Amino acid sequence: MAILRVNGEERQYDGDSSMPLLWYLRDELGLIGTKFGCGQALCGACTIHVDGTAMRGCQTTIADADGLSVTTIEGLAADGDHPLQIAWRELNVPQCGYCQSGQIMQAASLLKDTPQPTDEDIDSAMSGNICRCGTYPRIRAAIKQAAAATQGAKL
Ligand code: FES
Ligand code: FES
Repeated sequence: MAILRVNGEERQYDGDSSMPLLWYLRDELGLIGTKFGCGQALCGACTIHVDGTAMRGCQTTIADADGLSVTTIEGLAADGDHPLQIAWRELNVPQCGYCQSGQIMQAASLLKDTPQPTDEDIDSAMSGNICRCGTYPRIRAAIKQAAAATQGAKL
């Protein structure tokens, strides 16, 4: 049995705890904002937070998260009002949108650790999140806008 806190709610899972967390979140809890891309930790579409750190849900098992807090895009902020989500909307970052929840979760982890990231910090933190639509310039601009909006406050 595994016990996880998902978006603030305690969940008990009695099945095979070697199952990828992504399957559990999407198929059992219906949290479909987190996407499946490659299944091999190569694209970042499945990025979630485990105890506040960005992780790939396709390569994290339920056992890995046992006893820990898991946050998905649905739980990042009440009403979708995280500074990154606001900046994302204002700058119309998404194109098809498929990669974007993973991008935002990765960026949220970056800003939590580095509230005023340099271009190099952003490139380094975001390099594993692939966008086939090529929205990278808008992603970078939105991260900077969110950082400026919060003026280095701890997110
Ligand atoms: S689906 Fe997990 S990194 Fe691509
Ligand atoms: S917006 Fe289409 S893959 Fe990123």
